[in-house]
Amino acid sequence: MDELTIPRPDDWHLHLRDGEALRSVVGHTAAVFGRAIVMPNLRPPVETVAQAEAYRARILEALPPGHAFEPLMTLYLTPRSSPEEIARAARSPHVHAVKLYPAGATTNADAGVADLGAIAPVLEAMQEHDLPLLVHGESIDPAVDVFDREAVFIERELGPLVERFVGLRVVFEHITTAEAVAFVRAAPPRVAATVTPQHLLLDRNALFEGGIRPHHYCLPVLKRRRHREALCEAVASGSPKFFLGTDSAPHERSTKLSACGCAGIFSAPVALPLYAEAFESIGALDRLEGFASRHGPAFYRLPVAEDTITLRRESWTVPQSYPFGEGTVVAMRADRPIAWRVVSTTE
Ligand code: NCD
Ligand code: ZN
Repeated sequence: MDELTIPRPDDWHLHLRDGEALRSVVGHTAAVFGRAIVMPNLRPPVETVAQAEAYRARILEALPPGHAFEPLMTLYLTPRSSPEEIARAARSPHVHAVKLYPAGATTNADAGVADLGAIAPVLEAMQEHDLPLLVHGESIDPAVDVFDREAVFIERELGPLVERFVGLRVVFEHITTAEAVAFVRAAPPRVAATVTPQHLLLDRNALFEGGIRPHHYCLPVLKRRRHREALCEAVASGSPKFFLGTDSAPHERSTKLSACGCAGIFSAPVALPLYAEAFESIGALDRLEGFASRHGPAFYRLPVAEDTITLRRESWTVPQSYPFGEGTVVAMRADRPIAWRVVSTTE
């Protein structure tokens, strides 16, 4: 197969940032993806429906002309979140989910939640209004090894949460471990997961290939090879519980190349070709359509796109960097070839 045409995919986990940075990156996503679940970890966080509506308007305003891209907004769960705001979110046609960041777990997560028990009324309201909970699943116990944080979170927090809130729909975001795959598989159909291109293509050796590689640093951090293989098997199975979420997380180049570099891999301009590479490498190219274009809409109860996109096996070299506000951002696979290219889109 040298060419693949699929319904236009969506990105179910995306960081678009704000201001000039937003203006620099939104076109990369809109050129390929029809919709995206937009992460709310701005400074200050997107906590209210009013803030989400205003952010949505800024995204639409920043969009290059000619794109019919639809941003699907999320709220940032904090200890201040209220059941009333959840009810408002459920009534809004633009808010599609609520994101849980364990406090301090990742970039701009300091406003997140340290004690899940304390937000039970809000989770109950989400369950009642059928608003999905999107989870950054890493333990924030500083005693837990960074490579074990996902598995420990499942055991201590996510497992009990899914059991307690029996009607709550949950997306376990950017899963990275065999434990997460097993958990999602065994859970009821209301539990799903997104998988990034980096966690399908890279293991933790990529962080130290000939020297430290800050552009491969994201959270949750890359894991051992056997975990990568478990993720590949999960997406190759065709299970509707696993769908595309790039976690494209741009940071200005100098903030990555620093004594305390930011977590996040920018993949928006290369994500779909990278997924095609990953699926092809495991002999599962025929499963890309479900993963990229069908399983996400089914979970979020949205229609599958009516237009299509075509990928062709044709090597190209990723630019060394892309403009990002007043600086630059380095994408995944920068300055190296990718085997697939997006060649056409139809309306
Ligand atoms: C994300 C970011 O930079 O906003 N970083 C990352 O490493 N993935 C936050 C997140 O999704 O954890
Ligand atoms: Zn993210």
